[in-house]
Order: sequence, then structure tokens, then C-alpha cells
Amino acid sequence: MKKAILLAGGAGTRLFPLTKIICKQLLPIYDKPMICYPLATLMLGGLRDILIISTPKDLPMLRDYLADGAQLGISIQYAEQAKPEGIAQAFLIGAKFIGNSGASLILGDNIFYGKLDFYREALALERGACIFAYQVRDPQRYGVVEFGADGKAISVEEKPKQPKSHFAVPGLYVYDEQAVDLTRSLKPSTRKELEITDLNLRYLERGQLHVKLLSRGMAWLDTGTTTTLLEASNYIATIEHRQGLKIACLEEVALRMGFISQADLAKIIDRLPQNEYRDYLRMVCDEGPSSGPEPVG
Ligand code: G1P
Repeated sequence: MKKAILLAGGAGTRLFPLTKIICKQLLPIYDKPMICYPLATLMLGGLRDILIISTPKDLPMLRDYLADGAQLGISIQYAEQAKPEGIAQAFLIGAKFIGNSGASLILGDNIFYGKLDFYREALALERGACIFAYQVRDPQRYGVVEFGADGKAISVEEKPKQPKSHFAVPGLYVYDEQAVDLTRSLKPSTRKELEITDLNLRYLERGQLHVKLLSRGMAWLDTGTTTTLLEASNYIATIEHRQGLKIACLEEVALRMGFISQADLAKIIDRLPQNEYRDYLRMVCDEGPSSGPEPVG
């Protein structure tokens, strides 16, 4: 079973003053903190051994919120990223936690909504790395992957001024056990960060980088600016109102995945204040782990 790292770093400068007191990953996306969405993605992938990496300032708040994960039937450990020295640094910080396993990394501000089969297939790969490609209007803001005529990836570039395609690389990655050693061989980029794109290039050079194209039916939402933050909230609110089902409701996901029992969920509900979230969990608990459509995203 692969380990999981959730990277919730960064100073959130683009969202200031929203991020003056609270870290970006705890800002609300409609009815729950942002971090619930990437955490739900990991859990729906079946991953239960999770390391959350964040800044020394923000870690205590994250730990307060999610504790050791036992209430969700998962294990959460915490580690500090003292300075924002790049996404790939997560593999150096998490080297001991990862040990000889492979690992999946998700960025704490990435929201995926849709059927996650693509992710489960990637997690099942034994050799190499798997990243994803998603068509966006503004690829220059992201890692960008270029495909050759045979559909295989031929280049990955970090925030290119002249992108070679419209395919951005979302902040969800799957690596085999070579990731830590390959990260050790990386040099900081001009912005003095260990770039995740450089790690992906190491795999590409070895002919071991799989790139899966995400379907148009999948939503990968951005939360980087106040406008996209609001758009993400509105998107989640729209779907939740329409269906009467919640997206990334961690307790529901834990029940559905078999990480906790109905009795465990009932105990959680007893401790919650009377509100709409509690009413929802009551409904989920009464209906049991396998009724209705499975949670996505
Ligand atoms: C990072 C990565 C980039 C990726 C993006 C996804 O960029 O460097 O390759 O496409 O996350 O969210 P950031 O926006 O954190 O600089």
C-alpha cells in the first residue's frame, strides 16, 4: 500500500488578507475547510497512512482540526516544512515516513470532483510515476505536459511562458519507491525551490513517467485567487444543493470506505453541535455504508 503526503505549505500571499490569520488550506470552500477536499481524494483512493506537511505557523491549527486521524479510521502524522523550498521537498521531509513504499502526493489546495477511477488505476501501478493532464484555458500558470503523436508525454515544463499545450499538471502525483532518491538528486530551480516538475522529468528521462489524461467530465478546481476561491465554493454549493449530498464529507467517506463503522459514526455525531452538517451525517449513518451513489471527489 502506498503512503500519502498532503502538502499544505505556502504563505498564501495571493489570498492576503484572508490568509493573515488562517492558512489557505483551512479557508472555507463552501461548507467545509479546503483541506477536506484533497484529504477525501486520498481516502477515496484507499490511502490511510497520511503525512501532512505544513509551515511551523500553520501546523498546530491543522493538527487541532484533524488530530491523529483515528476518528476517520486513518493515521495522520505531521511534519514541518520550515521554508517554502518547493513541492518536491516533501519527499525529503517525508523520507522516513515513506520508507521503502511508493507514495502519492496531493497539494492541499487542489480540488478534484468526479469519478476517481483514474487515480485508483495510477495507485495500482507498480513501477514508475503517474501524473495527470487536464485541459485548462491558462496553462502558463501550471506545470504543462506536451504529448507526442503517439499520445505519450514528451515534455513537462514548469509555468512556461509559451506553453506547448493546454494540458496542465494537477497537484496530484503517484510515485514508486524511487521518488525519495531521485529527489535527492535534484537541484533547486532559479526560484530556489525543488520543483515537482523536475522530479517528473527524472521519471520521464527514464521512460517511467505515465501521464493520464483526465476526462472533461472531471472537475479540477483552482483555489489560488479570491475569484477562483469563490468559484470553487459556488461549484461545490451548486452540486450539493442539487443532489442533497455532500462532497468531501470526511466522515461519510470514512464510512463508505469501510474505515469506520456505523457505530463509530454514531459516536462522532453525538459529539457534534446541532446543525445542518450533523443532520447530514445522521442521514448517512441511518442509511448505512452502501446506500445511494458512492461519494466522488
Ligand atoms: C504547483 C506545481 C505545478 C502544478 C500546480 C498544480 O504550482 O509547481 O506544476 O501544475 O502546483 O496546482 P504552484 O501553483 O504551487 O506554484
